Amino acid sequence: YASAFYRPPVLTPYERTVDAEGAPLHKYEVSQTTGLARLVRGGLLTPVLTYNGTVPGPTISVDRGVRVNLRVRNKLPLVHPQWGHTLDTSTHLHGSASLPQFDGYANDLTYPAYKKYYQFPNHQPARTIWYHDHASHHTAHNVYSGLAAQYHIHDEAERELLPQGDFDVPLTIGDAMFEESGRLAFDDNSTSGLWGDVILVNGVAWPVMKVQPRIYRFRVLNASISRSYRFRLSTGDPVTVVATDGGLVPTARQVTSWRHAPAERYEVLIDFRRHRGRRVELRNSSNENNVDYDYTDRIMAFDVLNVEPTKTRYDAQGVLGPDPTWDTLPTTLVSSETMDLQESWSVKKRHFRLKKNDLGVWTIGDQRWDDVIASGFTQVLANPGLNDTEVWTLENSSGGWFHPVHIHLVDFKILSRNGRPAFDYEQGPKDTVYLGEGETVRLLIKFGPHEGRYMVHCHNLPHEDHDMMAQFQVGNPGY
Ligand code: C2O
Ligand code: CU
Repeated sequence: YASAFYRPPVLTPYERTVDAEGAPLHKYEVSQTTGLARLVRGGLLTPVLTYNGTVPGPTISVDRGVRVNLRVRNKLPLVHPQWGHTLDTSTHLHGSASLPQFDGYANDLTYPAYKKYYQFPNHQPARTIWYHDHASHHTAHNVYSGLAAQYHIHDEAERELLPQGDFDVPLTIGDAMFEESGRLAFDDNSTSGLWGDVILVNGVAWPVMKVQPRIYRFRVLNASISRSYRFRLSTGDPVTVVATDGGLVPTARQVTSWRHAPAERYEVLIDFRRHRGRRVELRNSSNENNVDYDYTDRIMAFDVLNVEPTKTRYDAQGVLGPDPTWDTLPTTLVSSETMDLQESWSVKKRHFRLKKNDLGVWTIGDQRWDDVIASGFTQVLANPGLNDTEVWTLENSSGGWFHPVHIHLVDFKILSRNGRPAFDYEQGPKDTVYLGEGETVRLLIKFGPHEGRYMVHCHNLPHEDHDMMAQFQVGNPGY
């Protein structure tokens, strides 16, 4: 734990205005560029791809109801300097119910020297989401190179209940493997995944963060290409899970460890009050279907200062008052439309298997992304009606692998895992589900609020790229 903790910058809008309907509208710009980053302290410079020059990219933080217009400029070279694929990109805001034309569709590509304006409605409850590249067949290389960043939606309920500002901390966790020259290593012959021997938190290897003896909120995003984790604290203390992918959980849960697949987000509270003057570590226990190295059991450390903690905060009007979140672990939070869904409302049940086909290609419901492309984007896995509720059963019949399955557009509720209730920490709205080896999950999903075609895929990115991705169509949008 040699490097100082790094917090990615928060992006400032270049314009704040109102849209045609009178709703607040904030305009942002990010540029995709090449750059050099020193990821390991004292180590070599690594060529990376960036949003606005940093890895991870800048955090976008907005209030619910503020519309965002994001201009993404592709200032990348025509081909990737190291791997030679074309650098056409597509930016997906993972966890946002965006319109199809702004959802970062894999084949909706923006070429180098071009730009695209994305619109995000931000009408969903407070949540931690993230934006990353989604270019067809090149997502793994581009995200691994650095094209990923957090995006936060705030709302009143969440501000009231949970720590804010300095005590609300994004942790974007990844892993990497380096060549001797300092370049990132990637085994192109493997379609199974990529497991690095270096753990990065916000682009820094094994950092140490100074904290006050109070309660902190961490927005943990696993942005790894393939690695999943089983996180725990070195003290054996539990963390309090307050939010999942789609925002607040109805009831906070204390867990001493949790499984965390790529693309999943968990917001956890860690209570440092009892650890003044001591070091607390975030560790990783060995998790099945991963490749471990000497130090992949360590993530980061917290040095708890022997100081009086901050117990006040400013409210929305800028008035200083007591901060109840400094020493309160909430028990009841806020339910959501997703968690209130009832299985009896479901109008259709579907069952999909995830496995390799006879040619050794990853498939989802027997489909591949190349089939979707070959069909002229007409082939769909499912065609739910707008606002229909369905039960989807996902079955991992691939033996020896786990698959984090992400369904675009929607939040869902996990009804069961192998016939038993979902884990304690999964009892909240989700958009990505950890489908472990031999596991079967049942999901309750309401399809809306938009019509159109959306992707569903494995978020182990080499699986997604080869070719574990399909699409579903909500309603009959008329194209
Ligand atoms: Cu995080 Cu379809 O992606
Ligand atoms: Cu997979």
